[in-house]
Amino acid sequence: VWLVVIAAGCSRRVVDSEQVSREEKIVIKFSHVVAENTPKGLAAQRFANLVKERTGGRVEVQVFPNSVLYKDGEEIQALQAGAVQMIAPATSKLSLLYPQWQVFDLPYAFADEEAVHRAMESYLGKKLYDGLKANNLVPLSFWGSGFKQMTNSVRPLIKPEDFQGLTFRVMINSQVLKRQFEKLGAHPVEGTFDNLYRVLESRAVDGEENTLSNIFSKNFYKVQPYLTISNHGYMGYVVMTNSEFWSSLPEDVRNILESTLQEVTEWEHEQALQINRDCLKQIISSGMVQVHYQTEDEKREWVRALRPLYEEFREIIGEDLIDYLEESRQ
Ligand code: LMR
Repeated sequence: VWLVVIAAGCSRRVVDSEQVSREEKIVIKFSHVVAENTPKGLAAQRFANLVKERTGGRVEVQVFPNSVLYKDGEEIQALQAGAVQMIAPATSKLSLLYPQWQVFDLPYAFADEEAVHRAMESYLGKKLYDGLKANNLVPLSFWGSGFKQMTNSVRPLIKPEDFQGLTFRVMINSQVLKRQFEKLGAHPVEGTFDNLYRVLESRAVDGEENTLSNIFSKNFYKVQPYLTISNHGYMGYVVMTNSEFWSSLPEDVRNILESTLQEVTEWEHEQALQINRDCLKQIISSGMVQVHYQTEDEKREWVRALRPLYEEFREIIGEDLIDYLEESRQ
């Protein structure tokens, strides 16, 4: 009788423990710095909703927007320490880990979204991803918020000389962005995204560069009356996790996360185009901003002033990546 009881007890325990591990809830904290109604904010939430649906609630992606959990300069360390499981920082901010990411900061490096995505699928993307993997990070997807535009509170920015003496906030960790403004005769000031509105509103700095969805959703346009549509740099994001967490996940969960991210990434790219168009319309209809559309001639002048950066950063970014840009432009 005892044997039967023990055997029954054991087998029940085995079944129970399998069920526990199969049903154990997985929480993924996804931290980012922008507003919820931006391409990144919306895609992160869509990802969370789809993952919940597709795993029957087993995997919960908790999205923390607006730097509420971690801000620039904290989120990468938080990911490496396992305090969050997913982040999607702008490429410039990855330069501290792997300086080659500054290839995205070189002015007019990519003509359009397609050129960006082609590059990420080429050896350029592979090399940049390898740089993250060497830091125990797992790059999962490449999102974007579109091209950056220039805003400021002093005067229209039409010719390179118009930058003379102005101060501009730049994203953290990128030497190329600092040098970009110096080449134009302006003074760069490194700063995090979370307090950028206050910095602009108080006129502690004169201007900044950002995508239309960030300029609109964070109200920069209300305190920056001059906007130049220059499309001079692409704001890409790497959706990533850390390798320890990733390898701890059951394979079926990893597969769902991967396929869902792939689908959300396509959606994110389409949304970014549409959202930026809508944001520009709303900025114009606010009547608070004088918008200047850079002409081809003006662009040639900016390019002339900024082109020396390609040589200046050839060693840091790497001959191969700079050559890729130059060859793909022909
Ligand atoms: C910025 O700091 O201006 C941007 O990186 C914010 C973002 O993530 O779009």
